[in-house]
Amino acid sequence: MTQHLTFPPGFVWGAATASYQIEGAWQAGGKGESIWDRFSHTHGKIEDGHTGDVACDHYHLWPRDVALMQDLGLHAYRFSIAWPRILPTGRGAVNAAGLDFYDQLVDGLLAAGIQPYATLYHWDLPQALQDLGGWTNRDVAHWFADYADIVSRRLGDRIQHWITHNEPWVVAFMGEWLGVHAPGNRDLRRALAASHHLLVSHGLALEPLRANAGPAARLGITLNLTAVYPASDRSGDEAAAQRQDGFINRWFLDPLYRGRYPDDMLALFEGQMAEPQANDMALISRPFDFLGANYYTRSVCKAARNGLLQIDTVQQPGEHTEMGWEVYPEGLYDLLTRVQRDYAPASIYITENGAAYADTVNGEGQVRDTRREVYLYEHFIQAQRAIAAGVPLHGYFVWSLMDNFEWSFGYNKRFGLIYIDYATQARTIKQSGLWYSQVTRQNGLA
Ligand code: FCB
Repeated sequence: MTQHLTFPPGFVWGAATASYQIEGAWQAGGKGESIWDRFSHTHGKIEDGHTGDVACDHYHLWPRDVALMQDLGLHAYRFSIAWPRILPTGRGAVNAAGLDFYDQLVDGLLAAGIQPYATLYHWDLPQALQDLGGWTNRDVAHWFADYADIVSRRLGDRIQHWITHNEPWVVAFMGEWLGVHAPGNRDLRRALAASHHLLVSHGLALEPLRANAGPAARLGITLNLTAVYPASDRSGDEAAAQRQDGFINRWFLDPLYRGRYPDDMLALFEGQMAEPQANDMALISRPFDFLGANYYTRSVCKAARNGLLQIDTVQQPGEHTEMGWEVYPEGLYDLLTRVQRDYAPASIYITENGAAYADTVNGEGQVRDTRREVYLYEHFIQAQRAIAAGVPLHGYFVWSLMDNFEWSFGYNKRFGLIYIDYATQARTIKQSGLWYSQVTRQNGLA
């Protein structure tokens, strides 16, 4: 493989994780129950009955993990804050030990020369709020803003990059419509209400974040965006691709950047969604500083007769990861240039990109994950192309720093640059991690 990559000075190279996926310690330090605790403890929801109870035990082992981040030469680390650690029942009494944990982590990162990028919501809603309806209850948007206020009062002096939500599409539709994520409901009306309230909560949280983190702080939201292609040039397939784009991309991008939901989707969801309240669209489209884009694969669509969306996604030949996701690096370029053309965000970060492979530790104690290295390299090339085409891409976070709890798949999918032996909590930097440490240090590859 030709190894040459050049990125602009100041480009941020990082890695990402999320609280429920790595922290473990589900009951330690006064933490309350989250919807993912409840869901993973429910029989049949997670492959092999896995739970996040212990995960990578990052709650206790974080100093070791920060040292590994230094080995990787990370400039930045994207992590999420567990709402029920801060507010065990979602609102009301603050748990000091929860705030202390993140306070120490942030100090540890800064001392190691690593910039913290904090996500406020990566899916672990306090169960007590779910009992009140979760994201389908509009009040939760206000409680989210209160939580953002509490966290940023404490950490706003040191965290300069804040992400309100991770992938609200997944939260709303996988959690409330498809039932495969917590809380596991199957109700489109609930999903649409949740998606709206998630967006409202983003808008509401911007205010305390700005007030507490100061004018230099950069605020954003992370969306799971996909590059969508029609399976053929038949008009039915093109319309199917259009709907898929509307459902996954525009349903969030349009309200955030244009202050309205896309008409074609509103027509499709007719009768299933309540009218937004008077000020909602203005709240949702309040200016913010950067878009976080998570990209893993593309979506090739053809017209179908069944389902609300009437879409079939078409499996492509060629390389796939352990998730069954097609490796399609050009999709990253197509997606970034398209977002830039249609929405012109001032700044974009790739907040997640990476691949699951069935890694093993060999007799020499190494993990030779060449396919992950190639996957990342090919996607970095597309990022570089997008920058050359004028996309204001300012950083790149590999998913993930380390192997972790991959939601409904449990520990059966390994995305890490670092291998975790779950029996011993031993950590081994994979070959891809060693390679990535050259990228972070050279700002590309010489
Ligand atoms: C994204 C999630 C992240 C991880 C990757 C593989 O949808 O944000 O937590 O599970 O997928």
